[in-house]
Parts: sequence; structure tokens; C-alpha cells
Amino acid sequence: MRNRRAALAAIAGAASLALTLTACGQSGEGGSEEKAGDAKGGTIGIAMPTKSSERWITDGANVEKDLKAKGYKTKLVFGEDDPDQQVSQIENLITQGVKALIIAAIDNKSLNNVLQQAADAKIPVISYDRLILGTKNVDYYASFDNEKVGKLQATYLADKLGLASGKGPFNIELFAGSNDDNNTKYFFNGAMSVLQPYIDSKKLVVKSGQTKMTQVTTLRWDGATAQRRMEDILTSSYKSGKVDAVLSPYDGISIGIIAALKSDGYGTAAKPLPVISGQDAELASVKSIIAGQQSMTVYKDLRKLAQVATDMVDATLNGKKPEINDTKSYDNGTKVVPAYLLQPVSVDKTNYQKELVDGGYYTADQLK
Ligand code: GAL
Repeated sequence: MRNRRAALAAIAGAASLALTLTACGQSGEGGSEEKAGDAKGGTIGIAMPTKSSERWITDGANVEKDLKAKGYKTKLVFGEDDPDQQVSQIENLITQGVKALIIAAIDNKSLNNVLQQAADAKIPVISYDRLILGTKNVDYYASFDNEKVGKLQATYLADKLGLASGKGPFNIELFAGSNDDNNTKYFFNGAMSVLQPYIDSKKLVVKSGQTKMTQVTTLRWDGATAQRRMEDILTSSYKSGKVDAVLSPYDGISIGIIAALKSDGYGTAAKPLPVISGQDAELASVKSIIAGQQSMTVYKDLRKLAQVATDMVDATLNGKKPEINDTKSYDNGTKVVPAYLLQPVSVDKTNYQKELVDGGYYTADQLK
């Protein structure tokens, strides 16, 4: 998206339109009265997980823009983090005769039945950002190197603490994403491949004792849930000592964690905030980084992700093979899904200008 402001304005328009729509929050060009499939190139269904996070609104807008540029119509729906709602939205899109589906799943295992309906109707399916599990009816996967996301987060924490040069011990607390999102384990395992050796050598201490992924997940990536967990940990495990680092998998979670830390007195010269990671380069978190609160984020250029996913649709509908760069990492339990994985970038206050502003992702004004 070259002009992010214009795109955000378009998003706001689309969001308010969505509020006025009835059936399953349908939005996008065409309207519900128009039959999908009339347009040259046909209509593509796009199912995004939620509007509660800025990134998915941006994803929806980018994907629509790219598909329209390729001559398609679009129907964009947001599932409001409710897996049942997402299933019925996709059923609706199939009934309306979409030519292809681009889906970012809410619950990666909830889509088997509806994707069988898609397969029966010969509708190709692109799994967007999050891999859909347990069904052969997913054709391609467009995402980032998700293990690397976790490695970038953990490497940043380790570097800031000086662990490689022998400093420590330090106290760290660990957070992971939603347990129904396939990305969660890639992020967490990637991060732990860096952190575990320091935990083993006691240079990193997890005072809460919560080190297994199942103990540290955050349902639906909810910031308020993470905030409550951080508050509980501070109360139960930090009567003495302080938190030096927090592994956070996503910006919305980082914001919740920082809120808990601040209400516990962190964020002063005497008690500085810990080093804390994030992901998605969401506006509020980039501002927090500039203000010296959140330490870093992992920037994933959503413009490129939309491009990859829409190229996959276009190639598939034209009987061509989409460009793939990974045929082994993403086994969905039924098959290895051919993927195109983009590269994530570690961003902190030293390089946000180059990566995000010079790169055209945000304007300098937006970050004020
Ligand atoms: C993940 C995605 C992350 C983050 C998170 C919460 O699936 O890969 O970038 O957006 O969901 O929305």
C-alpha cells in the first residue's frame, strides 16, 4: 500500500459500511444483491479473523485492492474472533459463487466441513498468514517465516540483556499467542530455541515457573487477557526482584503487558520497564517503541503478503502454478501445504525510520 493514509481512510469507510450490513457482516464491492461470478475474473471471497486488530483491517484492504487491480471483484468478511461465525461466513461466500477463497482462520481446526463444501464446488483455497489444519482442501499457504519471527523476538531480548557476553542472571516471563492459531507454536518454538539454553544455564530465570507453551498461551491474542496474566504473575512471583525481560508474541499482547507493569510501578528511572518484544508493527506499538516503552516489534510487510496471496489466486484461476518457495515446513496434518514465506524484520527505535517510514509503510505524521 503506497499511500497508507488513503488506505486507512478506505478502511474506515469499509468498517462503517460493515456496521450497516446485515448478513454476516458482508462488505466489499458488489453488495449482497449482486451475484458473485458476474465480473470478468469473478468474485473472490476474503475471510479475515477480526477487526479488533489493526493489522487484519489492513490485510483486508490490501487484498481487496490487489484483487481489484487484477480485475476481480471481492467480498470481504471479518469473523470477530468467533470461529462459528467465520464458518457461516465462508458457507455464505461459497453459496454466493465465489471463484476462490483467501482465509485467515480464527480456529485452525474448525474449517474442515466448510472447506469440503468449497472443494465440492471446485473453489481453490489460499490459507492466509495462518495455516488451516487437518484438511486436504487447502491449496496454498501465504505467510512469513514464522519460526524466524520468534527467533528475532528472542534474539533481541538476549542481545539487550547481554546474555551472549555472559551477563545475568535475569528474570524473564514468557507469553505465547492463541492456542488455536497454528502460528503460535512456530513463534514460541523459534523464540525458545534461542532462550532455552540460557534458561538451562540459569542466566534466565522464569520466576513464575510457567515455561511450557500450554501455560503461557493467550486465547485469541487478547491484550486484556495478557494484562491479567501479567498482573497475576507480578503479584505471585515478584514480591521481591523485578522483571528484566518479557517475551511477547504480538503488539496487542505487549500493550496489555506494559499496562500491567506500569500499574505495578514499572516505567520509572528507579524501576525501568523490562525489555519487551512484539510483532506486527501496529501503529500504537510503533509509537510505544518511539516513546521508549515497548522495545521492539517484528515488522511483516502486509503489502507483500497481500501480493503473494492474490498472485496465488490469480495463477490458480488461470491454470498456472503460483510461485512457491517452501514445500516442507508447513504440514497441516493431512498434507504439506506448498507455501510462499516472506521475511520478517526486527524493528526498534534505531531502524523504524528506515524500515517503516522510508519504506512507505507509515508516514512520519502517523507516528507523531
Ligand atoms: C497471528 C499473526 C500475527 C498476529 C497474531 C494476532 O496469526 O501471524 O502476526 O497478527 O496472529 O493477530
